[in-house]
Amino acid sequence: MLDMRVSRRAALMGAGAVAAWIATPARALLHAAGRVTVPTFVDPLIRRMTLEEKAGQLSLMASAWGGGIAASLNPASAGSNFQQQVEEARQGQLTGVFNGNGATMARILQTAAARESRLKIPLIFAADIIHGHRTIFPVPLAEVASFEPDLARRTAAAAAFEASGSGIDWTFSPMVDVARDQRWGRGVEGGGEDPLLGSLFAAARVRGFQGEDLKSTEHLLACIKHFAAYGAAESGLDYNVVDVSDRRLREVYLPTYKAGFDAGALSGMASFNEINGVPSTGNHWLQTDLLRGEWGFQGFVVSDYTGDEEMIAAGYAKDGRDAARLAFLAGVDMSMQSGLYRKYLPDLVRSGAVPQAKLDQSVRRVLALKAMLGLFDDPFRRIDEKREAARSMLPATRALAREAGRKAIVMLKNEGDLLPLPRSGKRIALIGPFASGAHDLVGPWVVYGDDAKAIDLATGIRSALANPASLIVAPGSGVEQPLRGGIEQAVAAARQADVVILAIGEDSGMSGEAQSRTEIIVPPPQQELAEAVASTGKPMVVVLKHGRALALEGAVAGAQAILATWFLGTETGNATADVLFGAYSPSGRLPASFPLRSGQEPYYYAHKPTGRPNPPGELQPYKAHFRGIPNAALYPFGHGLTYGKIEYSGFKQSARALPMTGAIEVSATISNRGSRAAEEVVQLYIHDRVASVTRPVRELKAFRKVALAPGQSEVVRFTLRSNDLAFIGRDNRLRAEPGTFDVWIAPSAESDGVRGSFDLTA
Ligand code: BGC
Repeated sequence: MLDMRVSRRAALMGAGAVAAWIATPARALLHAAGRVTVPTFVDPLIRRMTLEEKAGQLSLMASAWGGGIAASLNPASAGSNFQQQVEEARQGQLTGVFNGNGATMARILQTAAARESRLKIPLIFAADIIHGHRTIFPVPLAEVASFEPDLARRTAAAAAFEASGSGIDWTFSPMVDVARDQRWGRGVEGGGEDPLLGSLFAAARVRGFQGEDLKSTEHLLACIKHFAAYGAAESGLDYNVVDVSDRRLREVYLPTYKAGFDAGALSGMASFNEINGVPSTGNHWLQTDLLRGEWGFQGFVVSDYTGDEEMIAAGYAKDGRDAARLAFLAGVDMSMQSGLYRKYLPDLVRSGAVPQAKLDQSVRRVLALKAMLGLFDDPFRRIDEKREAARSMLPATRALAREAGRKAIVMLKNEGDLLPLPRSGKRIALIGPFASGAHDLVGPWVVYGDDAKAIDLATGIRSALANPASLIVAPGSGVEQPLRGGIEQAVAAARQADVVILAIGEDSGMSGEAQSRTEIIVPPPQQELAEAVASTGKPMVVVLKHGRALALEGAVAGAQAILATWFLGTETGNATADVLFGAYSPSGRLPASFPLRSGQEPYYYAHKPTGRPNPPGELQPYKAHFRGIPNAALYPFGHGLTYGKIEYSGFKQSARALPMTGAIEVSATISNRGSRAAEEVVQLYIHDRVASVTRPVRELKAFRKVALAPGQSEVVRFTLRSNDLAFIGRDNRLRAEPGTFDVWIAPSAESDGVRGSFDLTA
């Protein structure tokens, strides 16, 4: 059964609690789940396979069903038509297809492979189930704003429940690329700028997708992508090169992948980018030495879409044959979409360029996973048209989408307690291109969801209002183009109203793959709309739609209240209304810093201090700042307000010194002095004052979400050990060095909160 229950403990579980959980026997069990068992029938089967059939088991193609979904999602490629694809399945030239069109399609293809092919090896069906299947949850970045990893486990489990009901065995998710440059469009699919937060969500999502037994017809095989450091693309340009020190790679970019594999993910996807001159798809150190050698990964690695072939344009492989050889020898077991493996691997083996044993090993990995998914027991186990319909968009799944939606919303600003709005007695003008209509609700990277089945903002707001007729709606502007007469109409609507809700930002197509932006601003026509509406003097709540952190300016930044609402999915309107009208007190926190200006990118809170830091306050000459602005965030990582009045006080630490093998407890009293209940995300940051390599100004080490009734106080405790203070030293190994550490318990990465310091002693 779909498990959507959540214990209070799990819901409020922060990094500190997760760290404790990591040491428990439950975790040891999960580690066992990361192991591959090869059934005894696999090797005899491999011995019966021709080289062509082996290469077929390593070749994954986009579904060719009637010009289907896959074709519209990825770049056009000269693929086969569906009848040809069925024939390829029958000939053993295909390991499976991705982004297909449901159970009926899967049944036809599976029949050809598992019933009619020579060796009857079942196909595997993959899809990009990134943030929901039919019921769409908030985009992954938004969900991370909940600072509640268990929420991500639950939505991943719910997505797996729907998707596995329609014939899908394997999701190309979670995407765990740390993204510190907001120009990069794909940050929307991941876990934000911080490695600790990203790692906790990576692990939670893997557990949600895979469950405890891959044979379950309610779960999917997870895929950690894009391995590795895809989010470090130079200048935020998608597909661009990555040039990164080994230390930063290990400290910032690799931990999220490791967390996902450690949580038991049994597949990984090679990234498009190169790292320091070597494309990930052809990088033996990355895909083999590190992943299998150092980390002990036992599953299989798939290339990204034509990633092997792209090494030709990148200037690393001479031709298709060379690309296949390089990718395969590097450790990429399966090729996606290029067809290069099935075209060249047999001959590469015959010529001795690729050892036969290596080919067999990759085939063994793939067949073992198919067996673990139960496909050899029953190739049709996840293919069931009735179940597909019966599991689609159940009320409990939609309720989870609404819960996730409201937990993802971050209240950036709320001057004069403009929010929450009253449900009656005020006329509201809802203005902006995202005010109403079945568009831009489910957001980017949705294969099977449908805007038409999602609740828009106007509908959500009307159902929260005592008198739905008190809402006036005006689009005001297009997304990137003005709307003729739009501003006049919007200003007229604002004049008639007591309060304005301005729904502006980015549309679904402005983030995601290949959607890098040079300016991460609200598009100019909408900014103009905001200026005009603000000039009416009516109180204004900005409701932002966005797939990345934005640089807010002018009337948008100056609005009395601002909500970061991302793309919230199926329940967008209801979840937003829950926060707007106070049915839910906002609890989300930014997983990515909102800079003051686009030109600061890449801006991230855990930056190094430089030798000339500008002290807080005035900009000083010859200090590290930009002309006219400090190198700080408008809204930093971790920021988010509630409807309570939260105060931090009473910092305590159990000792002044922390011995290498000991522990120190730090605590603070968190109080809600307001008249409304609130959930506060209490964050623990440290800074290492002097070390053998310079350290970031702050680093998140733990967090905890606490629910506080009006007037309630709670002492929140964190334990730190030397492990938490370790970093990658000059020798590229993890080390903890004696020295003095600052520690903050604070509501965001750039707020003071309460603080102390202690010495780590040898
Ligand atoms: C993306 C992957 C995705 C794949 C298959 C690629 O373009 O980079 O994230 O899983 O397509 O759709």
